[in-house]
Amino acid sequence: MKIMVIGSGGREHAIIKKLKENPAAEKIYALPGNGGIAADAECVAIGTKDIDAQVKFAVENGVDFAVVAPDDPLVLGAVDALEAHGVPCFGPDKKAAIIEGSKVFSKQLMKKYSIPTAAYEVFENEDEALGYLDSLSSFPVVIKADGLALGKGVIIAEDMMQAKAAVHSMMSERVFGQSGARVVVEEFLTGPEVSVLALTDGKTVVPLSSSMDHKRALDGDKGLNTGGMGTIAPNPFYTDEIAAECMKKIFIPTMNAMNAEGRTFKGCLYFGLMLTPNGARVIEYNCRFGDPETQVVLPLLKTDLLTLMLAVREGRLSEYNVENRSGAAACVIMASGGYPQKYATGFPISFGEAENSADVTIYHAGTRLENGAVVTSGGRILGVTALAKTLPEALEKSYAAVGKISFDGAFYRRDIGRKGL
Ligand code: AMP
Ligand code: GLY
Repeated sequence: MKIMVIGSGGREHAIIKKLKENPAAEKIYALPGNGGIAADAECVAIGTKDIDAQVKFAVENGVDFAVVAPDDPLVLGAVDALEAHGVPCFGPDKKAAIIEGSKVFSKQLMKKYSIPTAAYEVFENEDEALGYLDSLSSFPVVIKADGLALGKGVIIAEDMMQAKAAVHSMMSERVFGQSGARVVVEEFLTGPEVSVLALTDGKTVVPLSSSMDHKRALDGDKGLNTGGMGTIAPNPFYTDEIAAECMKKIFIPTMNAMNAEGRTFKGCLYFGLMLTPNGARVIEYNCRFGDPETQVVLPLLKTDLLTLMLAVREGRLSEYNVENRSGAAACVIMASGGYPQKYATGFPISFGEAENSADVTIYHAGTRLENGAVVTSGGRILGVTALAKTLPEALEKSYAAVGKISFDGAFYRRDIGRKGL
């Protein structure tokens, strides 16, 4: 099979490495890929949002199966366009990808189908939003831009002033463009967060290993929100009992709700959950594999990924018994100094002996090749994943490998997984 994977980050590197475990994956193209993916696939310089070029490439090169990994092309309809040209895809169509593309849609879906989530109000008008804030007596409150915002569209406002500033920046200044035309003002919840990536073909929903992301830039969950600074799997807070409750009250109801809306979801549905004192609540849905959750969830997956992806596309997921390896995985993200704000790129990366560490895989995110050498090219640079029998051992191995890698300005959190120990 000729397989094409759209995307350029650590998530895509993890997907490609896993697909390669199946000998049927004869040829893999990455559009556009990155400096590390180049060792595992043929990188093709086509951007993630350039759907016309993606379709043309797939048709001209006889691609048998396409995996659309990032949110942007999914929300823009890459799957619809590829399928219309006879290219079978893993990923939801545009109608279903709206579950991530519009927070207003997802909140209304949850309300309509009684799926547990934070209480909320939607505003299309700034004065009304500000008026509503005036009526609030307790903070924090959570302000969310409706559309995609590079993971930055959620602001936890600690007081009235911050809340009003957030609404103003989204609705008037349009810091997130059209994504801020509507905002959701939401109840602030507390509790451990859990990410659950689930495969679904619209008939069956199969959660993969649970995981925990670390979204803030600095140790102790301080600093700005990022795309994710590290992950562990499974998530120690997510007990079998909670998993059973989520299956019954969240996962199956969400799949059924999408079917009832005529928006059958096929692909990987990501449930961002908060385990509150009153039970699990959905914080967000994503229409795709999470990054960097994928870098710990897929290494733990025992069942063949390509087989499962084809089954999702063909509506045969119920035929498989999906199994995970025992043990734990930990991924530490190495980022550029300054991320998630300004940072410099183009620094050579020295891997030392890290690449030879047992049970360690280095997934590339923001790297490129320059005269055969790997150099930094983004905010998040590498995801260093280790597998072990226990979480403490996985963390130790991952940090030992991180310690051998260097580039100018490299920074990483020192406390990934600590909450789970
Ligand atoms: P998101 O960009 O939707 O993943 O949200 C970013 C982060 O904001 C989440 O991982 C949570 O930590 C936090 N968050 C979002 N919604 C709420 C909420 N209703 N209550 C508390 N924290 C929230
Ligand atoms: N790690 C969070 C996300 O992929 O959105």
